[in-house]
Amino acid sequence: MYVRNAWYVTAWSHEVSRDPVRRTVCEIPVTLYRKRDGEPVALADRCSHRGYPLSAGKLVDDAIECGYHGFRFDCSGTCVRIPAQEIIPPRTTIRSFPLVEKDGWIWIWIGDSERADAAAVPDTHWMTDPEWATVTHSFPFACRAELIHDNLLDLTHESFIHLSTVGDDYIYKHGLTVVVEGDVVSADRLMPGVEAPPLYAATMGLSGLWDRFHCTEFHAPSFHALHSGITGLGRPREEGYLIKVMNGITPIDAHTSHYYYAFSRNFGVDDQSATDALVEGLRTVLQEDADAMALQETGVQSRPAGESDVLIGQDAGLAKARKVMARLLAAEQPA
Ligand code: FES
Ligand SMILES: [Fe+2]
Repeated sequence: MYVRNAWYVTAWSHEVSRDPVRRTVCEIPVTLYRKRDGEPVALADRCSHRGYPLSAGKLVDDAIECGYHGFRFDCSGTCVRIPAQEIIPPRTTIRSFPLVEKDGWIWIWIGDSERADAAAVPDTHWMTDPEWATVTHSFPFACRAELIHDNLLDLTHESFIHLSTVGDDYIYKHGLTVVVEGDVVSADRLMPGVEAPPLYAATMGLSGLWDRFHCTEFHAPSFHALHSGITGLGRPREEGYLIKVMNGITPIDAHTSHYYYAFSRNFGVDDQSATDALVEGLRTVLQEDADAMALQETGVQSRPAGESDVLIGQDAGLAKARKVMARLLAAEQPA
């Protein structure tokens, strides 16, 4: 039920330290910590002795020691010490997971380690580019990851859920252009001659009419880059006030997800009060989504067998994305 051979965001860089932390990725408990040289490590968060979480233990140099009976594991997952005896059975080895740390995100690979290709981690360079300013949030969502993917690929919900922040009444009146390239689905909407959204208009110091656009680029199965902004009437997008919203969506289990969110902008970059206002405004936006998705999850769970979504034209992006996800899942099933 999860695509395993993929990169998933598992933490922000600043969350991983010499104090082990626990995360759950697609139902797999993982502990994360840093070696003395700063390199992050991910190991199964379950001691092979009798199942105690290693994240409740302590680091000894670059190894982690279980807090229950002192089994010690190096960062490859090999047990290197059992205090009560000399012999270390091979079955004590636990899983270690490939990680990539880039632009403040830590990505984990829970599939076949030999297939982990760091080059496949999506581009997030706006987070560290000095021409851009970034605000981040992370949120637990009480819903399955699929609902968040759908939400990001159909932004007409902004007209209803986010009316006071990033929404406006006109969004659903404009059509969508959907393109699929490999495992990436893009859903693009141009809204010519409209007002800037309330949350950004103040930050941008703007009034009047503009061309607004947003393009959700879903990198199945775990990441969305939302290329959005406003530009002068009829002007190229790259001239405009641009926003890159990066969304790392990581399933915790069948009904909960972890949402890692970064919002980079190329305007008001040094304006701290704008950044502070966006931190609060975007927290509101994410809470609006989190509340809506939790409600939708209860709705979806209550469905009788055989009842399914009734998709409309505005769902073209998520319909294509579901096909890509189904293909990725099928490719991982045993023949
Ligand atoms: S459960 Fe870890 S050492 Fe016993
Ligand atoms: Fe939303």
